[in-house]
Amino acid sequence: MIKEKRFRAHIALMLIMLTFCVGCKDASSENKEEIIEQDTVLKYADRFSYLLEYPLDSLAFPRSADENGTIKKVPSKDWTSGFFAGNLWLIYKITGDARYSNRAKEWTAFIEKEKYNDRTHDMGFKVFCSFGNGYKITNDESYKNIIIESAQTLFTRYNSTVRSIRSWDFNKEEWQFPVIIDNMMNLELLFEASNYSEDSKYYEIAEQHAKTTLKNHFRGNNSSYHVVDYDTITGDIRSKVTHQGFGNESSWARGQAWGLYGFTMAYRYTKNVEFLEQSKKIASFLMNHVNLPKDAVPYWDFDAPNIPSEPRDASAAAVIASGLIELYEYTGDKKYLDFSDRIMGNLSSMKYVIQNESNIPFILNHSTGNWPKNDEINGPISYADYYFLEAILRRANIK
Ligand code: GLY
Repeated sequence: MIKEKRFRAHIALMLIMLTFCVGCKDASSENKEEIIEQDTVLKYADRFSYLLEYPLDSLAFPRSADENGTIKKVPSKDWTSGFFAGNLWLIYKITGDARYSNRAKEWTAFIEKEKYNDRTHDMGFKVFCSFGNGYKITNDESYKNIIIESAQTLFTRYNSTVRSIRSWDFNKEEWQFPVIIDNMMNLELLFEASNYSEDSKYYEIAEQHAKTTLKNHFRGNNSSYHVVDYDTITGDIRSKVTHQGFGNESSWARGQAWGLYGFTMAYRYTKNVEFLEQSKKIASFLMNHVNLPKDAVPYWDFDAPNIPSEPRDASAAAVIASGLIELYEYTGDKKYLDFSDRIMGNLSSMKYVIQNESNIPFILNHSTGNWPKNDEINGPISYADYYFLEAILRRANIK
């Protein structure tokens, strides 16, 4: 009960911060403590209620918005489809308001058919952010089974010569077996599927994939390549390139964030200290980078040519903030928590938070999806919101 009370107080503090920063409440920092004492977090449930107004449509998951407020809508096969449902599940966890879990269930149901989609590695993003959160909250057995079936589909993309899970199927003229650093994020679904099914095979390929990524994706300075392409017959590396970064040798910001989060999460399940050491090294690369702006929200690529006149990537910042909280939990090193707090404090400011009256279903602005394709530059994107909300929850659970 006390724990629950403390949790709610932390959440309330985060939301008050958000509310203060966007200037929607007339309250000074002096009476902050009083507000936490008097109010429950339920009072803040309406802070996000505009997300509930976005119309339900099984073919139109909201992914991002452009500068005119036009929403990019995608079908469930898109790698981002699970985030909107995930956001609603996470807001339910923050607020306890059943309007969010009810709506989350409806969006989650539209994703079920993806459990058979073997054309992509993005099963974790799609199914774990939606059904995974839903299962932890509802204990619904059908959700658990969908996660296991999805893991079985993802399992078919593992190649025992390469010792990795294949990421993409496109660009076959150039790549035989591309593996991207982002793929670390899909391992959580596999680890959990082994827990749920008591079949260790998903765990085994997840751990091996992480080992292969650790061996081949990192440079001497602990930054990561985006894509490593392998020969399917010999397992040898064919090339190390980028797809969404500035150049083959540059450090694409979200890729570094996926690596930090992914190896910390892989340590959670395996307790392989090499994974934890890699997370610490990536954190050091990110936190001390000369091109990291003062507010710790990275430019879209650490080596983008026109820094400081380059777009930021708030999604990378949110992934880093969430990953650093977990890294703090395993290391006890306060610098990780302090850095995460710094990012979250800045992301909660008026510069990054979309105003309440906005009619787009997103929380944060200034993310960059795919700069080389001039796609989703410096705008709201659903996955930035997901990791931002997750970081709020993770921070609230730190004693
Ligand atoms: N996984 C794709 C991205 O991070 O843009």
